[in-house]
Amino acid sequence: MQNGMSLRQYLVDQKRGGVAIEADLIDLICETAVTCKEITAKIDRAALEGALGAAGSQNVQGEEQKKLDVITNDVMYEHLCTTGLLAGMGSEEVDEPMMIPDQYPRGRYLMFFDPLDGSSNIDVNISVGTIFSIVEAPRGDAAPAPEDFRRKGIEQLAAGFCVYGPSTTLVLTIGNGVAMFTLDHSVGEFILVRDKVQIPEETAEFAINMSNQRFWEEPVKQYIADCIAGETGPLGKRYNMRWVASMVAETFRILTRGGIFLYPMDERVREKGGKLRLMYEANPIGFIIEQAGGAASTGRERILEVEPGSLHQRVPVILGSKKEVEKVEEYHRR
Ligand code: AHG
Ligand code: MN
Ligand code: MN
Repeated sequence: MQNGMSLRQYLVDQKRGGVAIEADLIDLICETAVTCKEITAKIDRAALEGALGAAGSQNVQGEEQKKLDVITNDVMYEHLCTTGLLAGMGSEEVDEPMMIPDQYPRGRYLMFFDPLDGSSNIDVNISVGTIFSIVEAPRGDAAPAPEDFRRKGIEQLAAGFCVYGPSTTLVLTIGNGVAMFTLDHSVGEFILVRDKVQIPEETAEFAINMSNQRFWEEPVKQYIADCIAGETGPLGKRYNMRWVASMVAETFRILTRGGIFLYPMDERVREKGGKLRLMYEANPIGFIIEQAGGAASTGRERILEVEPGSLHQRVPVILGSKKEVEKVEEYHRR
């Protein structure tokens, strides 16, 4: 594998190397990358075009939508609808599963996406991203039924996210490790910059929204207290902390230098199951983290094996360096 390859060259090379990936899935990933290019251009120009700020609407989860939440959702839906590669889509920003209009051909995959992750950061010019997850459509290219959209993470064929940060970088897994592609604006292509990304197994850096501390469950309270206790505490080392409030940016950091990210169960969101969404956030990021040698857990169960009860299901999320995630699972078992 050589750096300098385009995204499509990488995917074709993987197929030639024996990875089971259909030509249609290669096309679908490349078309998704096209939407990321469109989105990075929109974000780049948002302040110039009056596209920052609130949309004045709420999504199905009762969260205030930013104008760019709505714009990026439309970019993805409208582009991917026309490709003939999808049988349907599920978006964080849309209540019901989205079907392919009759004028376009349907394909054999379903996609779940969070068009703009970390959107509370958009007005303050901090990294945001797009997350996507692809599974097979159980009825092939026939119109999908609602239950077809409730899929375990282990069924994912591919997952990725694009971070719109100092560089626009796409992170992808097709189940054979994790590769990173940076958008070369001069040629308009995502170019391979890292392959077979591996997360260090151990870490001394955690990421959590500390302002929620009083709402956490006991095991997480205890683990974070022990991290803060440093060298003389039970974990025996000094920890550093980061919180970007953008899961894509936190994940990118963890893929680069290790770390642990927690959005644990929290009293205020107990009824909803947690804060982060299983289909759009936890599953795709969990798949990527595992493919890079890390672990992704609810604290009690592997994320990829959580049985989804609904399209917009939420879960507690603890992911990153394997040994550290295992430690937090141990706190939950005690
Ligand atoms: P989204 O912008 O798609 O709603 O997701 C935001 C998520 C995630 O990216 C981040 O880790 C977390 O919510 C931030 O939450 P807080 O604002 O509670 O810190
Ligand atoms: Mn999100
Ligand atoms: Mn979002």
